[in-house]
Amino acid sequence: MNNHQEQIEKANKEVAKLKESVSKHEWNLQYHVMPQANWMNDPNGFSFFKGEYHLFYQHHPFGPKWGPMHWGHVKSKDLVNWEHLPIALAPSEEYDKDGCFSGSAIEKDGKLYLMYTGNVWIDGKLDEDLKQVQALAVSEDGIHFEKLKENPVIAETPEGDINTFHFRDPKVWKHENTYYVVLGSKTKKNTGQALLYRSDDLIDWEYVSIMAKGEGNFGFMWECPDLFELDGKEVLVLSPQGVKPEGNDYHNLHQAGYVIGQLEYQTGELQYGSYYTLDHGFDFYAPQTMMDEKGRRILIAWMDMWESEMPTQQFGYSGAMTIPRLVTMRDDRLYTLPVPELEALREKEVQYTDVVIEGEESLEGVHGDCIELKVTMNVKDATIFGLKLRVDEATEQETVLSFDKGEGIVTLDRNKSGKGPDGVRKTEVTMLEIVHLQIFIDKSSIEVFINEGEKVMSSRIFPTNEATGITFFADQQMNIENLNKWHLKQAIK
Ligand code: FRU
Repeated sequence: MNNHQEQIEKANKEVAKLKESVSKHEWNLQYHVMPQANWMNDPNGFSFFKGEYHLFYQHHPFGPKWGPMHWGHVKSKDLVNWEHLPIALAPSEEYDKDGCFSGSAIEKDGKLYLMYTGNVWIDGKLDEDLKQVQALAVSEDGIHFEKLKENPVIAETPEGDINTFHFRDPKVWKHENTYYVVLGSKTKKNTGQALLYRSDDLIDWEYVSIMAKGEGNFGFMWECPDLFELDGKEVLVLSPQGVKPEGNDYHNLHQAGYVIGQLEYQTGELQYGSYYTLDHGFDFYAPQTMMDEKGRRILIAWMDMWESEMPTQQFGYSGAMTIPRLVTMRDDRLYTLPVPELEALREKEVQYTDVVIEGEESLEGVHGDCIELKVTMNVKDATIFGLKLRVDEATEQETVLSFDKGEGIVTLDRNKSGKGPDGVRKTEVTMLEIVHLQIFIDKSSIEVFINEGEKVMSSRIFPTNEATGITFFADQQMNIENLNKWHLKQAIK
C-alpha cells in the first residue's frame, strides 16, 4: 500500500467512528449531500462518468473545522439519491502535503481525471509563503485514484502581474480537441483575476493569458472560477473574496456570481459584461457546474459561508451542498431552478387552490421540516406579504420570507431562526400580479426559488425539532391560487 492509500484509509476510519451519531442528529440533512462526519466545504470534481454523477468535496475528515484538505466523494445515478464512497484524495506527497485543494474532473480515454491544487505552507503563515501547484489523479473505476508521477503538472505561476502564492482551483474542460483550464488568481496588488492554460494531453500545460481581471469593487482574489458555454456565449462563474457591501448586495463575507461574455480562445481573453450574484441568501459559495449527458448545465454549491458560526460543529459535522440546480440563460441573465429529478423525492402531497389570505393564517397539513412547497400567489391588494417557515410559537422561532410590493424587494429574515447566525438578506425581484415560489426545507436549511429561478435565496438555519409550522401573511387580501406541499424522502445513504 502506498502512502496515499494509507492516508486515505486512516481518514476513512476516522469518519466511520462518527457517522452513526451524525446520521441521527436532528440537524443532519436528509436530501442534501453532506459529509458522513466532520468538515466539508467546496464541491469539487462534479462530473458524469460511466453512467453516474460523481461529486467530490473539500473535506477535513479529522475534525468539524477546516484542516488539511482531502476530497470526500459521493455518486448518484439520478442527482437525487447519493451514495457515500471512500475518500478519493488525501495529502500524501511533498507537493500536496498540507492539502488537496479544490479542483475539477474530466473523462479522458475512459478514465476519470481529477485536477486539483496541491497546497504547502512554507512558514506556517496562511496567506503568504504558501506554495500552490496543480496536480492530477486518475481512476479507472471512478473510486480509487492514483496521483500521477508527472505531478505537479503546473509547478509555478506564470510571469506577469500575478501573485505567486495564490494560484488555485483548476476547472478543466475540452474545447475542439484541446483541454483548457481556468485558475483562480490575483494581481500583485490584490485584484482578483482568472488565468487560462491549454494542453493537448492534460499533462503538458501551456499558459495562455489572464482570461479576466476585476475592475472596481470586484474582490482581492477570485476563487473557484468555472468557464462554460451556454447559448453560444461564455459564462464565467467565480467566487470573489472581499467584495464590499453595496446597497442590498454583497453582505456575505465572500460572494459567488457570474459574468457573461465572449472568450477569444486564441488570445485567452474574455470580454465580459456586468457581474451578477447567483444566490441572494446567507450561505452559498464556490459553486461548480458540469454538463451532463443530456446536455444540461447543472450547478451545485457549498451551502455555508466562511467564518460563519456552524452550530452542528459541536455534534461532529459541518458543511453541506445545495440541491443541484439547472442553469439556463434568459435575457443575458442566469436562471437557476432545482433539477426536475428532485420530484422523485415527493410523497404525501397536500394541495390547496384559491385560498384568500388576509392577516396571518396557517393551512391544515401545510407544515414540516423536510418538505417542498410550491406556491402561486395572486398578490391582489396586498403590499406586504409572505410566509413564515419553521415556526414554533411557544419558543418564538420563525424564518420569514417577506415581499414588499412597493419597493420590489424580497427579504429573508433569520433573526428568530433558532441557533446559529442571524440577520436579513434582501434582493430586488420583479413584482408582477402573480408570484411563483418553490421552497425546499431540510432539517437545517432553506432554499427559496422565486419567479421560476429569477432569484434564489439559500441559507442554513438551526431551529429546534418542534419548529415545523408554516403561516402565510398579507396586509390586504391576496389569493393563493395554487399550493402543493410534499414531504421529501431521505436520499443520502
Ligand atoms: C474556496 C477555497 C478554495 C480552496 C479551498 C480550500 O472556498 O478557499 O479557493 O481551494 O477553499 O479548502
